[in-house]
Amino acid sequence: MANIRRLDILRVRNLREIQIRPVDSVNIIHGKNGSGKTSLLEAIHMLGLGRSFRSAKLEPVIATDADDCVIFSELEEGVTIGLNRTRREGQVLKLMGERQRSWVDTARHLPMQIINSDSFSLLEGSPRVRRRFLDWGVFHVEHEFALAWRKASKCLTQRNLLLKQRRLDTDQLQAWDQELAQQGQHIDQYRRRYVELFLPALQKVLPELIALPDLKIRYDRGWDESVDLHAALQANRERDHRYGATQSGPHRADLQIRIGKNGAHEVLSRGQQKLLVSAMKIAQSLLLHEISGIKGVYLIDDLPSELDMDNRRLICGLLEGLGCQIFITCVDARELENCWSEGVRAGKFHVEHGKITPF
Ligand SMILES: Nc1ncnc2c1ncn2[C@@H]1O[C@H](COP(=O)(O)OP(=O)(O)OP(=O)(O)O)[C@@H](O)[C@H]1O
Ligand SMILES: [Mg+2]
Repeated sequence: MANIRRLDILRVRNLREIQIRPVDSVNIIHGKNGSGKTSLLEAIHMLGLGRSFRSAKLEPVIATDADDCVIFSELEEGVTIGLNRTRREGQVLKLMGERQRSWVDTARHLPMQIINSDSFSLLEGSPRVRRRFLDWGVFHVEHEFALAWRKASKCLTQRNLLLKQRRLDTDQLQAWDQELAQQGQHIDQYRRRYVELFLPALQKVLPELIALPDLKIRYDRGWDESVDLHAALQANRERDHRYGATQSGPHRADLQIRIGKNGAHEVLSRGQQKLLVSAMKIAQSLLLHEISGIKGVYLIDDLPSELDMDNRRLICGLLEGLGCQIFITCVDARELENCWSEGVRAGKFHVEHGKITPF
């Protein structure tokens, strides 16, 4: 379990000073446009991953008239996570009061899924978005993955630097090729193993939301299936040199999502796309729970858009079934009122001009 018991937010966008005690099940964040609902979800996201889902830059999140922002949370079993982001000195992420050099450990404590208007990019965006989706799952179930990924990234950076030089230093290149090939093979194994678990999990969830008999999801590891990565790197050296960057490897993997012969985004309506993406994210959480007993936190921004009432109810029903802590926004609380089963005690938080009142 990874539930948030207390959340303090200071100077994040228009949220001046917020303190809430969320419930373990459903937290409905409602309020007018521009009141601060997405900012609240953004703050939670930053705690888990050290970054916003709206901006890659550090500064836009800090309130315009402030020099820093602070987010603090207390999870179950007294685990604390704090983040202080400043304009001048970057950010400090702390777990149990200890400064973290990366987001790896906080992310493990707070496995977070987000469903918002950007979620469509999982279908229509670049392979990078799908790799991030895939790696979220792999990261949480294969604990060696983060280290392999860090090592592979270092190799890639060094290899690409060499490839940018006019004359190739083949000795140095050889050393990086070997290490990259080794880590790349590991990453591929972890991802492949995960996809084999993920697809049946998706088959359980998807029919509850939408019938898509022609859906095909295929993992592409980022280099030719018929050769190992070392051979692929060697064979493509000249091409890589021309591009000044490595063209094959785990950084080029993809999860191809198709309906028949077409990309899913080329065929499905917006509402259908939202259902498919939601099913994929719910399947990941289901799997995480099955494998490790961990329930994640769900951030759901503006579920009502693109979805009719029946489909909202279906998604809410599935989310509720996961037993995860949910933060879900809407303009009018009535939009989500009838979406939960009778026993669920939803917490309601009204946001108005950056202030929050529980009701
Ligand atoms: N750095 C910042 N400092 C202060 N205010 C900001 C900053 N960045 C954005 N804002 C403002 O914060 C307010 C809250 O934005 P937010 O996106 O959280 O609203 P929202 O409640 O999700 O609205 P909507 O229903 O339209 O999605 C907006 O008025 C926005 O212009
Ligand atoms: Mg919003």
